Amino acid sequence: MLSISRCNNVNDLRSLAKRRLPRSMFHYIDGGADDEVTLRRNTDAFEDYEIQPRFLRPVDEIDTTVTLFGKKLDIPFFIAPTGMSRLFHHTKENAVARAAAKFGTAYSLSTLGTASLEEISEETDGPKMFQIYILKDRELTREFVERCKAANYDALCLTVDVPLAGNRERDKVTGMTMPPRFTMKSFFSFFTHPNWSFNFLLHPDFRLANVVHRVDALGKGAMGLIEYVNSQFDRTVTWDDASRLIQQWGGPFVIKGVLTSEDAKRAREIGATALMISNHGGRQVDGAVASLDVLPGIAEAVGEQLTVLFDSGVRSGPDVLKALALGADAVLLGRPYLYGLALGGQEGVEHVLRCLLAELDLTMGNAGCSTLADLVPDLLTRSPR
Ligand SMILES: Cc1cc2nc3c(=O)[nH]c(=O)nc-3n(C[C@H](O)[C@H](O)[C@H](O)COP(=O)(O)O)c2cc1C
Repeated sequence: MLSISRCNNVNDLRSLAKRRLPRSMFHYIDGGADDEVTLRRNTDAFEDYEIQPRFLRPVDEIDTTVTLFGKKLDIPFFIAPTGMSRLFHHTKENAVARAAAKFGTAYSLSTLGTASLEEISEETDGPKMFQIYILKDRELTREFVERCKAANYDALCLTVDVPLAGNRERDKVTGMTMPPRFTMKSFFSFFTHPNWSFNFLLHPDFRLANVVHRVDALGKGAMGLIEYVNSQFDRTVTWDDASRLIQQWGGPFVIKGVLTSEDAKRAREIGATALMISNHGGRQVDGAVASLDVLPGIAEAVGEQLTVLFDSGVRSGPDVLKALALGADAVLLGRPYLYGLALGGQEGVEHVLRCLLAELDLTMGNAGCSTLADLVPDLLTRSPR
């Protein structure tokens, strides 16, 4: 049987995860919104750029370090916030945070994590970012900011691209429920993946650790946690709300989900220090522009004043190189590390980071680049296809 260590790249890990996970779990990670046009375009967009290597330059030492939020990262890619890691592996967010710290890179914890922000802070002293939503329950949003200050988070990241939950059709087909339930529809798949199922039953600590106390405090007793969270997405959030949050936090602040230069400039005007060009990995607006397609324009508009982060579609070292060359200061990974987590906890995530770093190192060296400063737009050409 293929093991993680024999996976050579993210695509291998994805294939293995597809075999090892119950259908509903795999497709929850892997799927996108509606017809998944944006999901596919996110990865295809990287093929529209080709690398033009330069030779006869010393590449005996490759330096991949970058400074982010005042901290040095050993590698220019890090962990994107994703909800409910406990669904995929019982070692959950803690394992991912440990893997990130081991590689000298940053970890982002989602509001919808199954580990609390304090737990993650104790788990690792590596660079950490907390991803926040402005919820209808504004008191909870304010509380998050204070808790992040107390727990020494390096940055806060406001996700702005979820005014409504995206339409993930694969979840409807597989009968995905949160928390997972052994229903008629899912029974066969859970039964044929006993490893995952036993682990889920033996470690039944599925809880949205950052919000659970609030549901109790609000006396919502009978109301499920998931219903509470779904009811909390607020369609009325504006730039003024974001601006107030930036002031309350007073430190490095990222706006996640920016896809236009206009919004990027607005982010700068209200005092954000960074933005993340992202379409949520194609999980929100199907037909939305691929992140890579808007990266050069946004980097040109605000790259001098703001830190530009990038995600959606990164699957390999050459992808990382292309995003950095087109103006990103650092890149985030979503699905790639979740495949690794699902397959092998911390070791699985480390394997993903190891593969990507080896690929980046090799591509930089073979393209004549010894530092990230060598990754400039001229290194790429738009493919004639
Ligand atoms: C299973 C899953 C859960 C996610 N949960 C969140 C979340 O809670 N908050 C958030 O801001 N983004 C969330 N995202 C989006 C990621 O942060 C990131 O933008 C996206 O995965 C990047 O695309 P990629 O998967 O192609 O790397 C989630 C993505 C996935 C795949």
